[in-house]
Amino acid sequence: MTVSTYPRINADRLMRKIMDLASIGAIEGGGCARLALTDDDAAGRDLVVAWMNELGLTVTTDVIGNVIGTWHIGTGASVMTGSHIDTVRTGGKYDGNLGVLAGLEVIQTLQENGIEPERPISVGFFTNEEGSRFAPDMLGSLVYVGGLPVEEALDIVGIDGARVGDELERIGYNGATPCPGFAPHSFVELHIEQGPVLEQTNMIIGAVTGVQGISWQEVTVLGQSNHAGTTPMNMRKDPGYVAAAIAVFLRGLATRYGGHQVCTVGKIDLFPNLINVIPAKAVLTVDIRNTDEQILRQAEKEFAEYLIEISHSEDVVVSTRYLARFEPVEFNADVVDLISSVAKTHTQSVVHMPSGAGHDAQMFARVCPSAMIFVPSVEGVSHNPSEFTSAEDIALGTNILLQVLCELAATKEFSQ
Ligand code: GLV
Ligand code: MN
Ligand code: MN
Repeated sequence: MTVSTYPRINADRLMRKIMDLASIGAIEGGGCARLALTDDDAAGRDLVVAWMNELGLTVTTDVIGNVIGTWHIGTGASVMTGSHIDTVRTGGKYDGNLGVLAGLEVIQTLQENGIEPERPISVGFFTNEEGSRFAPDMLGSLVYVGGLPVEEALDIVGIDGARVGDELERIGYNGATPCPGFAPHSFVELHIEQGPVLEQTNMIIGAVTGVQGISWQEVTVLGQSNHAGTTPMNMRKDPGYVAAAIAVFLRGLATRYGGHQVCTVGKIDLFPNLINVIPAKAVLTVDIRNTDEQILRQAEKEFAEYLIEISHSEDVVVSTRYLARFEPVEFNADVVDLISSVAKTHTQSVVHMPSGAGHDAQMFARVCPSAMIFVPSVEGVSHNPSEFTSAEDIALGTNILLQVLCELAATKEFSQ
């Protein structure tokens, strides 16, 4: 198939689907709240499954609730694409959703134009990619590739006390297809960048070379609840102060390290959380990321040492629990190069770049040649209702995805 023979996707149809899906769990400011395995997630799933059925795909749901729609065409293992449709509580319309709906649009365009790829094409949406309700993030794709036993995953309890297995059953997505799932021939995910790099460098397409390592911990600080007016400052065991000091320490660490180092305290819960009571307890989350595993380990080590130091100086008890830990991932160079060469037939604004966010593709990289295509996020904003990517950039990314999936279907061997 030569480049000029690839059909163009129907951008209006794709944008309509993105808006229709975004109307489920819609929140003020144009965003979405479809936390994993909630009723709104279930309604979003039902809509996407209906669209998969309309395209005549074979739809399977596995034991962790991942849904895969396959267009059985050609021979051999599928070329897979997809992403997630769960969102953070203050999510946008595009994060994850774009990758799933673009995959469906690619299949519909190929079908309408009578183009038959040499392998089946599968489009998946994977359970709890966001990790906002249940940790770790990328849970469904992790279980799919055999990175976590399904029994353990089903037993995970979320921020609201709900259990993954119970919620899957409740919403009717406790499927029968076993995990680990079949290894695809290759995997490519189209996603919004969720950062400012493409826009700031006047680039439109990112050929994603890998994903930075992620370290998520929950820190619990136990002190002593007491009267805010009567307890002298030097007699306090104050978990509220310690939580704040941890956030400040991590900001300093990230600034000192520079480069790709990022640190975030995204959630702090104080107990009893009252104006005139020194808290008895603080529970906070820590998100530390770096593209370099050695530096990430060093950051974790320094953080652990700091916790010991502050527990002594403030006379509190500090404990930690890992919620997620993923090493940095390098995508398959052949797939990255294919994305970049296909993209260059559409635009000269193509750049190789790493991903700051976690993605399902990083899990598939464990079992098949994988990579990602990024399109720009206006002002680099994501995990925010105002997240925006232009219809023009979405169409360009999806046309590139179409061509990449077809060319992968024709690829016999990868050099690595
Ligand atoms: C998941 O999407 C993350 O990068 O936090
Ligand atoms: Mn995402
Ligand atoms: Mn996200």
